[in-house]
Amino acid sequence: MKLFVDTANLDELEQTLRRGFPSGVTTNPSILSRERGDFHAHVNQMITLLREFDCDIPLSVEVQSTDPEEMVQQAEEFIEHFGHYTNLNIKVPVGWDELAVVRELRRRRIRVNCTCCMSYNQAIMAAQAGANFVSVFWGRIRDIGYDAGLIVRQIHETFRRWDSPTEIIVGSIRHIADVNEALQAGADIVTIPPKFFPLMCSHPKTDEAVNQFMKDVRQWQGTLENQTIRESA
Ligand code: E4P
Repeated sequence: MKLFVDTANLDELEQTLRRGFPSGVTTNPSILSRERGDFHAHVNQMITLLREFDCDIPLSVEVQSTDPEEMVQQAEEFIEHFGHYTNLNIKVPVGWDELAVVRELRRRRIRVNCTCCMSYNQAIMAAQAGANFVSVFWGRIRDIGYDAGLIVRQIHETFRRWDSPTEIIVGSIRHIADVNEALQAGADIVTIPPKFFPLMCSHPKTDEAVNQFMKDVRQWQGTLENQTIRESA
């Protein structure tokens, strides 16, 4: 079970790395488009940040084309710019022509995260083509009324039976409950927008307990101080 961070924002990334729990980082063209500045410089800044925190964890960057030849060229270009970070994974959307891209990148020993999987079939095709990761979009599957939990469970079962090295990443998280359900359905990894992390480790009863401890310790210290004053008077 691993938690990845679904962001390209440097502040958000730093806040999570500072807390030590991320096992990977995923981006997509939409996420990256929200950041300012040059794309190459930005991804390199993300890598610098990962290194500052001694994190050698998978970082996924997605191709920005729908043309298979261009996808391979872009992947090579990403390797040229970011390949100094050896844990780089190229995201390729799943599809018939795209499977040839997956195969070609794997032939060149480039790690691939086959993304935008919405069905069991797509995930097993991507895995068989050699993808290192398949990214299954939980929220988007549910948007059209399908059972994302069932799909992830079936993929997990099949990968387990095949002893497949491909790991299942569940993305498109919209609620904390999605994270819990995805993990229970057999996701190896859930990639999560940073806004959910503070919520995932807080609880009103935790606040209540800590507040009570602090109140009691203040009262106790107050009693001790009064006692010392009385004794020295
Ligand atoms: C996963 O790798 C994707 O970046 C992401 O989770 C997509 O989610 P969305 O449905 O919010 O676009």
